[in-house]
Amino acid sequence: MLAPTPPMGWNSWNTFGVKINEALIRETADAFVETGLKEAGYEYVVLDDGWMAPERGSKGEFVADPEKFPSGMKALGDYIHSKGLKYGIYSCAGTHTCQKLPASYGNEELDARTFASWGVDFLKYDYCYKPPGVDGQALYRKMGQALRTSGRDIIFSLCNWGADEVWKWGASTGGHMWRTTGDISDSWESMAKLGFSQAQLHSYAGPDRWNDPDMLIVGVSGNSQCIGGDGCTDAEYRTHMTLWCLLASPLMIGCDVRDMTPETKATLTAPEVLAVDQDPLGRQARSLSAENHNVQVWTKPLADGSVAVGLFNKATKGERLATVAWESLGIGIDTEATVRDLWAGADLGVFRGSFASSIEPHGCRLVKVTPPAPGE
Ligand code: GAL
Repeated sequence: MLAPTPPMGWNSWNTFGVKINEALIRETADAFVETGLKEAGYEYVVLDDGWMAPERGSKGEFVADPEKFPSGMKALGDYIHSKGLKYGIYSCAGTHTCQKLPASYGNEELDARTFASWGVDFLKYDYCYKPPGVDGQALYRKMGQALRTSGRDIIFSLCNWGADEVWKWGASTGGHMWRTTGDISDSWESMAKLGFSQAQLHSYAGPDRWNDPDMLIVGVSGNSQCIGGDGCTDAEYRTHMTLWCLLASPLMIGCDVRDMTPETKATLTAPEVLAVDQDPLGRQARSLSAENHNVQVWTKPLADGSVAVGLFNKATKGERLATVAWESLGIGIDTEATVRDLWAGADLGVFRGSFASSIEPHGCRLVKVTPPAPGE
């Protein structure tokens, strides 16, 4: 299994768009190590659209943009690997990438071999410029097969924006994760729309097969070259992180990691929050009931028999009281369960029957409810 838990890393798109080059990618890899992101579990350094030259080479092969990547793509991969990290790259199932650069349609096997020869460990595969009448699923199957025979283990990340209910067939193409939504922008509205729309998809996720509601905007803070949005407050970014971890989403950082505020770093690396995302049981949270006065409660069973619970207040103004009853977690109503605040990393005490908390606007609480072990 290449992705027993949701892949974690960074992708160039959300902040830099096509304005990428080898110095940026090397400095990003350096920052992974220096800032503790690597230690926290972030592993993949992924180049999105814009790395390739406008034309293929004389043998039809992919060529890196010579101005942005003068040392070539293999050398870049070697550098990323020398830091103990993994190397991700981008192509597209159509004739061109979304930025009108060469893409893999008709060149799947050659491209998969080229990526393998560069040491690529992860491929994000987009969906622009699909020739009319061509079956999209077949294109993903073709690249999935090409990667399998490329001679290298490469994570296959499908990016067809949720078209044709990709969650139902993504894994059958060899995919390890698939975008379930359109593109995120750097705003509360966009994040909340995408994240809270995932309620029906929990049964499709599991080890090696993850729903992907798009990359993180934590810390982008209005500085994106391309995705738009004025940014969120630190509390809103924590809500975003909480929701993505409950959803067992891949965690692809989208900010400039060379220049993170202490709050951004804390949001991205909180160990007990990341442990919810990376829990080996691999369940995706489900939403407990219909939204009630902007309050939502999401629950994710964990491998140790406990349940992670997210209490959310989507309202713009006014605190709300959010409650989770043990009954809805499958825990007996008379059970005395321990409740731990996962952002604070502190036990809140023993509660019988339910837990309730007041939640600030656009805020959340992430707790872990642990029933006593049998016989206790
Ligand atoms: C979009 C994709 C984005 C980014 C962009 C690059 O289709 O959803 O995440 O990869 O293309 O052009």
